[in-house]
Amino acid sequence: TAEPDLKGRHVVVSAGGTREPLDPVRFLGNRSSGKQGYALARTAAARGARVTLIAANTGLPDPAGVDVVPVGTAVQLREAVLKAAADADAVVMAAAVADFRPEVYATGKIKKKDGQDPDPIVLVRNPDILAEVSADRARSGQVIVGFAAETDDVLANGRTKLARKGCDLLVVNEVGERKTFGSEENEAVVLGTDGSETPVPHGPKEALADIVWDLVVERLG
Ligand code: C5P
Repeated sequence: TAEPDLKGRHVVVSAGGTREPLDPVRFLGNRSSGKQGYALARTAAARGARVTLIAANTGLPDPAGVDVVPVGTAVQLREAVLKAAADADAVVMAAAVADFRPEVYATGKIKKKDGQDPDPIVLVRNPDILAEVSADRARSGQVIVGFAAETDDVLANGRTKLARKGCDLLVVNEVGERKTFGSEENEAVVLGTDGSETPVPHGPKEALADIVWDLVVERLG
């Protein structure tokens, strides 16, 4: 059993991928499975934390002893994260949040019209939740962790993103055709604003989760 080094702490984890509806039956989504976020929630609970898991479209069973808040869209995810973060010691944003959503939601199913080209889909920006919780910390000393999936120049892009988002730690994954999404395993580097660089060898998502919590515990003091 794990050391209860998160006992008395409230941690918030987002997991899964948002779905941005076009009409009642269609959405823009992504391939995030939610497994890394669930591993973070399970390991935090095992280390004694009170855990709020904001789950976007994962279809995974609720982990035991964790408060699960189901959400659909990025806007709903934002509401749920901001609410839970108000009294949180740490926030880990493992969810894949859509950067854009359709500008209009059609309340009836969009139909094809004979001999006509389809209407273009116009997108608008979603709020950047990680940047927002990092800029307006609900508590002093709150530790905030982001995730970044990169396909090239992983470390350089990660450093730039860490600075842009304003979080304390950024878990950088290299993604590709068969890497990371939906898999049981992960491989990453965790970058810290203090210049630290923690490589995480290929292994179960639980192992990466425990390293993230180790780094969070160090920063919580
Ligand atoms: O900018 P990018 O999408 O690569 O950043 C990924 C990180 O930012 C993840 O931690 C994700 O949860 C978070 N994010 C967010 N709100 C967005 C987009 C990403 O919180 N609109």
